[in-house]
Amino acid sequence: MKEVLNPARIIEVSMGFLASKTMLTAIKLELFTELGSNAFTGEQLQSKMGFHERGTWDFLDTLLSLHFLEREGNGKEALYSNTAETALFLDKNSPHYIGGTFEMLNDRTYLHWGDLEDGLKTGQPQSEIKHTGENFFEKLYASPQALRQFMGAMTGLQMGSFMALAHLFDFSKYDSVCDIGGASGMFSIQTALNHADIHCITFDLPPVAPIAKENIDRFALSSRIDIVSGDFFAQDFPKADLYIMGNILHDWDLEQKKFLIRKAYDALPANGALIIVEDVIDDERRHNTFGLLMSLHMLIEGGDAFNFTAADFTGWATEAGFSEVATLPLSPTASALIAFKK
Ligand SMILES: C[S@@+](CC[C@H](N)C(=O)[O-])C[C@H]1O[C@@H](n2cnc3c(N)ncnc32)[C@H](O)[C@@H]1O
Repeated sequence: MKEVLNPARIIEVSMGFLASKTMLTAIKLELFTELGSNAFTGEQLQSKMGFHERGTWDFLDTLLSLHFLEREGNGKEALYSNTAETALFLDKNSPHYIGGTFEMLNDRTYLHWGDLEDGLKTGQPQSEIKHTGENFFEKLYASPQALRQFMGAMTGLQMGSFMALAHLFDFSKYDSVCDIGGASGMFSIQTALNHADIHCITFDLPPVAPIAKENIDRFALSSRIDIVSGDFFAQDFPKADLYIMGNILHDWDLEQKKFLIRKAYDALPANGALIIVEDVIDDERRHNTFGLLMSLHMLIEGGDAFNFTAADFTGWATEAGFSEVATLPLSPTASALIAFKK
């Protein structure tokens, strides 16, 4: 029998931004925070959120059908509430809130991706620098509030991977770990929470330190985690027998990537290791759609920055002197690449 082709997947992916924007809007408007641990009717939510009646029911039921809300019952008396995931990760009152990622996607990235076509034709970034001539990151570090949003965004993207790494990697062979570009300290927090014997250091640019301190204090871990400020290109890495770089290498071009890997190798003692946590693209560049999209995203953000495969990283790490590289999958899209020094 002749196969009947169906355009359903083409339609689903092409119109995927409708679902994406629905979710981003719910996060931006703090729907999941408003719900907290409560259950409300649609009318109550309409009034609390200041919605017009026309969109309220479609909006709530779209989120329900996407499994981002629960609903007990049907019709006007039905009660909406958070799912276990939205309660943990999208209620601003939860210490595991990751919505900063999506607030930033809603406020800036969504607009910049509208210029993907230009990015593909020019190879140039499509972020603020294109429109205003201003470097987003320079402005970011000058504004504590914007920096806090950005750091929240970083935490959101990596929280799941750091939680998985804390459970899956054998930290017992190491006394100290330093997170290079540690942002708000979430890797150190997850590691300290799960491993009583390891000392953690989170290393980032000076304006980031107060944000990391606030976060670490929230978990009452200041005696277990040191905050060190510095520039990872210009200054020595703090001494540690394990380094981690989460979503650091993908921010930079090839020469800068190799520089940071070599710097880690030189700073490590014998038997030390460097762990990379990223959305690592599969070696054949066929399957990890999210890793490939992240790499396109790095084009939009920074032009020459890019994501990479385990084979790419193994080549660079071997060139720097590392003896072996292992891969530890952390989620369907993210992996840890662990480079060991003899
Ligand atoms: C994409 S974020 C990754 C944050 C975190 N490691 C994660 O996995 O979510 C990059 C981090 O590198 C930091 N960073 C950028 N340039 C730096 C530099 N020259 N020295 C130290 N940290 C830097 C930024 O402040 C930011 O926290």
